[in-house]
Parts: sequence; structure tokens; C-alpha cells
Amino acid sequence: MRTLKVVGGNVLSGTVIASGAKNAMTKLIIASLLSDKRSVFFNVPDIGDVAITLDMCREIGMEYVWDKEAHILEVETKEIKTSYIPQRFSGSNRIPILMIGALLSRSQGDIVVPMVQGDAMEARPTDLHLAALRSLGAHVEIQACSNTEAACHAFAPNGLKGTEIILEYPSVGATENSILAAATAKGTTVIRNAAIEPEIIELILFLQKLGAYISIDVDRTITIQGTRIFHSVQHTVMTDRLEAASYAMLALATNGRIFVKNAQHQHMVTFLNAVREIGASFSVKQDGIEFWAEEPLHGDIHIETDVHPGFITDWQQPFVVLLTQCQGSSIVHETVYENRLGYVETLTKMGANATLFRQCLGSRNCRFNNHSHPHCVVIKGKSELHGQSISIPDLRAGFSYVMAALIAKNESSIYGYEFLERGYDHLIHKLQSLGANIELEKAQKSLKEANSLDLFDSLLQISKQSPSLKSL
Ligand code: EPU
Repeated sequence: MRTLKVVGGNVLSGTVIASGAKNAMTKLIIASLLSDKRSVFFNVPDIGDVAITLDMCREIGMEYVWDKEAHILEVETKEIKTSYIPQRFSGSNRIPILMIGALLSRSQGDIVVPMVQGDAMEARPTDLHLAALRSLGAHVEIQACSNTEAACHAFAPNGLKGTEIILEYPSVGATENSILAAATAKGTTVIRNAAIEPEIIELILFLQKLGAYISIDVDRTITIQGTRIFHSVQHTVMTDRLEAASYAMLALATNGRIFVKNAQHQHMVTFLNAVREIGASFSVKQDGIEFWAEEPLHGDIHIETDVHPGFITDWQQPFVVLLTQCQGSSIVHETVYENRLGYVETLTKMGANATLFRQCLGSRNCRFNNHSHPHCVVIKGKSELHGQSISIPDLRAGFSYVMAALIAKNESSIYGYEFLERGYDHLIHKLQSLGANIELEKAQKSLKEANSLDLFDSLLQISKQSPSLKSL
């Protein structure tokens, strides 16, 4: 694993380009598996999760050309050579389970995808995925491979048949899996209480170009009529709203002024409201959004993460860091994931005044009220942060550590840069261009290791060692 050296205290200002969206791009690659036609994607982010997803797809027969400089990716899967995804991808990311929905349309035989089990499984349930696939007519079973790993077997001997799917919770992944499976099922599928995150709308736009018949009603209902007639597609991937907001928060937390080029207003409405509520300013321009603060920021805000159009859970971690730099007390209530505030302990070691609670704080109780993990935090600012040696547990916590280190007055060592490479395109370069004092420590590994361990392998290795990564 590689270590970042960060010396904080600089004001970050300038222009940064937000890249294509991780959580859209990976799903579009999977969706392209439905067809044997070529798809061309533009604005493709150069990140680890795209590399891992392509690697998995290559195993089963996808051919691709990825021009990272031009951000263009061409993919084509003329035939599915195998529908067995090797176990080494277990715990790599949230993608393997989604391959079932896509592969059921093209594979007559058994589909086998890796999963994690044990403690991590509790934090990373797939019950909604499995129930949806079963109601479409697939046989789906999970079999243990070891104490920590499992495989999901699926097949549909009689093909899939359209049905009504009522999701107990509007899970992003279960909605995507249902859409992918229903796209080629016989007849009509209606998904109720579906997630309608912008990344899901992006998937629907791509599938419509591909040939699918899909409509969305205002009440979170998605209707799909199955088809098997597909076309070649060209698609420009939406901007990453998580990355865009991350740079916005950096500007505000360091007293700087950053223009986030390509930030898309319609995907950031809830975030922008929160920015205004703490006394910061933004200006929506033709090709992006600029962020700055005229006066000291004030907290006194209550944030509740939620499904779209709520405050997205992936904005939560950097926003908590930002709130440490605001005067007053604020509450952040995480209602999407039960165990997503683990990083707060490290922030307190860095000097943040933050207290965790198991009970819900706010106007409504969520499904995690009084469960085993703290899912609410009260932050009192403004705090002076001090540099630390920190290990990154997962992608979003990792960014919040980098942000805290950039605010802190002295040096921090942040271990596990690979986590950040999964989702932040050229992070170090972008931060340096804004004035950050950040660099990657020279690699310590031997030449032999360096030759045999590429980014992809090291990501897989650390993801297997980290329960919190598996849980996401
Ligand atoms: N859930 C279930 N059962 C299921 C599936 C989910 O109970 O079968 C629960 C989860 O445990 C969680 C909640 O539902 O408490 C939300 O999970 P969801 O399925 O909506 O999330 P996901 O599809 O696993 C995606 C993103 C996450 C993002 C969430 C919420 C990808 C690859 N991941 O995860 O992004 O936080 O939606 O918007 O698209 C990230 O980018 O760092 C990240 C974690």
C-alpha cells in the first residue's frame, strides 16, 4: 500500500475538472453486456473501480479499448465465453452481484459470481437483489467458500419473465440489478419503491439508447418491457457529483475559491442548499459551479442522509470535516448505511470536537435507531486540526482524511492511497494544481513486488483485508 504525505494549511484555489461518475460508469460497462453490439463511452474516469470492472468483464468475453488520455472506452462482448467470475474478485467492489442481472439474459448455464460473507455480509446485505431476481424467475443461491467468502450461483432454465417487484427499501444496487434483468425478460416488469438516483437515470438513458423500453413514474415506479433487439450506442457519462462536491467542500474548508468545471447543477441541488445554509456562496456557471465563502462559516445545521433527492450518504464524510471548520453545533444523521461514521474517531484524534450517538437525533427515527453502530454525530466547531498518521478504511472516509490533513497545520501520513484511486481520478495532480502540499511517498516495495503487484491486484488484496471496504 502507498502512503500520502500531506502538509496542511494552504488555501486551495483555482479550477478543477470533475471527471465522469464512478457509480454510473461501472454500471454502464455491466449494462453493455446485455448486447453483442459495440458501445462507446466518453468522459470515462481513470479510476480503479473502472479498471476492476473491465477486468471482470474481460474474464467473461468482453473486448475493450480504453484511451485514458482521451477518456474514451470502447467495449464489445460478441459472445459470453464463461459466466463464472473468479473468486479472486470477491470483495473487490459492489459490481459482481450486478453481473447476475445482466448475464441471465445471455447465458443459459450457471452464473457464478463471488461475494463476501460472515461479518462483512451482515453489513453488506444482498437480500433485495436476490428477491428481485427470484421473482423474475431465476434460481439464485449463495454458497459459502470459506469463513469470509461466498459465491452466488444463478440460472434461469426457462428464461426470465416480467413481474412486479416491490423493493422494501429503495436500494440503488437492487434497483439496478432488477432493471438489468428485466431489460430482456419476457413481458413487462414493474419495479415499485425503486431508487431514482441520477446514476440510475443514467443507466436508464444508456439502456434506452441500447434498445430497451423503460419508463419512470413520479412515484418511484420504473416499468420495463423486455426486448432482445439492441443497437450500438455512444454515450457521454455524467459528471461525478460526489467528486464535484468533494472539491467544493475543500474550497470552503480551506478558505479558498474553486471553480468545479463540469459540475452539474441538477445533480447537486440538495448539496447546494446545505452549502448556502452554512453561509457559503456558489455561482452556477454555464460549464460548472464556483464555490467560496465571503464570511466565516456557521454550523447550526441538521443534515440527514437519504436516498435521492436527499443528501447523499457519500457527501456525508467530507461535510462532517467541513462542519469542524464552522462555528456552532451541527448534527449529521446517517440513515442509508448503519456503519458509516467509523472515521469520526480519527477526526477527533486530529482535534475535531465530534460525539457519536446510537440513537437517532432529529425529527424522525430511521431503521438504525439504537442499533449497535453509532449513526449520528454532533460536531462543534470551529476546531484546529492537527496532522496524524492515518490508515484509510474506505474510499469516502479516505477523502475525508485527506481533507482534514489539508486543513491541519502540520504534516500527516495517510496510508492506503489505493482506496482513493478507486474513485478519484488523478486526485494528487488535481489537488496539487489547487495549491495543496500533497505527494505520494516513494514506493518502499522491492523491485520483484513492483513487477508483480499492479494497482488492480493491490486493490483486491487490501479490499479483502478491510471489512469496512467490503461493507460498501
Ligand atoms: N441494502 C439491503 N439489502 C440489499 C441491498 C442494500 O438491506 O439487498 C441496504 C444496504 O445495506 C444499505 C442500503 O440498503 O444500508 C443502501 O444500499 P444500496 O443498495 O442503495 O447501495 P449500493 O448499491 O450498495 C451505491 C453506491 C454507494 C452509495 C449507495 C447509496 C455503487 C457502486 N455504490 O451502493 O457508493 O453510497 O449506492 O447511494 O454505486 C461510494 O461511491 O463510495 C459508495 C459506497
